[in-house]
Amino acid sequence: MSHRRSSFQSNDLFPREIDIEVCLKTLKIYQKMEGDVNCVVWDASLVLAKYLETICHQRPDFLSGMKVLELGSGLGVVGLTAATLGAQVTLTDLPEALPLLRLNINENKSKISSMGGYAIAESLVWGDTSSEILKEEFNMILLADCVYYEEAIDPLIQTLQCLNDTVTKKPVIYLTQELRDSEIQKKLWNAFYEKVSENFYIEKIPEDQQHANYRSSDIVLLKLNKK
Ligand SMILES: C[S@@+](CC[C@H](N)C(=O)[O-])C[C@H]1O[C@@H](n2cnc3c(N)ncnc32)[C@H](O)[C@@H]1O
Repeated sequence: MSHRRSSFQSNDLFPREIDIEVCLKTLKIYQKMEGDVNCVVWDASLVLAKYLETICHQRPDFLSGMKVLELGSGLGVVGLTAATLGAQVTLTDLPEALPLLRLNINENKSKISSMGGYAIAESLVWGDTSSEILKEEFNMILLADCVYYEEAIDPLIQTLQCLNDTVTKKPVIYLTQELRDSEIQKKLWNAFYEKVSENFYIEKIPEDQQHANYRSSDIVLLKLNKK
């Protein structure tokens, strides 16, 4: 897939509101009318964001002060939710996705800081092992709907490996993925799963532990720990 240049004008955009019930805050997320995959909110991101909220409902300090990295953030729903729940979050994506991602961070900045959280957006292209971000230590890595084209699978796994190799404390990874019906998407997911299971223990989070209204048999939620 080519890395397309992205730009936006304010009249291309429309807001979507996402409630974070556990802290009574509402995120405002700008999407584009038309554009690449990083311009809309994907269902897998809602499932992951709402799962974080579900855990915080049981353990209010679950994300407080945690250093969190999100890969392939898109519009930022997952990372911004984590930041509003008190985490220090670095949201990352391709360079062309950053303007809209940063707009969404700015839009929600005061809510995030009122909860003690923090959010910043940086470029991180999967497989770029020279990135300074890979030298930082994170407690948690989040990713939603990032397994969807073949060329990205090895670089994505390489980034997950690097993040786990440079730290003393291995970060836990939470990942959601929509399992699409097409043969090519099934093959891609199976290839990713097989490769990632070589180096990570994989735990499937059952639907009954997820948010009651934001879960789906089509969207898998996994917790990964480095072997
Ligand atoms: C299907 S979208 C999911 C976006 C967001 N996580 C969500 O669920 O709404 C996949 C995201 O991965 C990003 N992406 C694709 N290839 C990438 C790469 N090689 N390096 C970094 N990010 C990439 C895209 O720009 C996009 O934001």
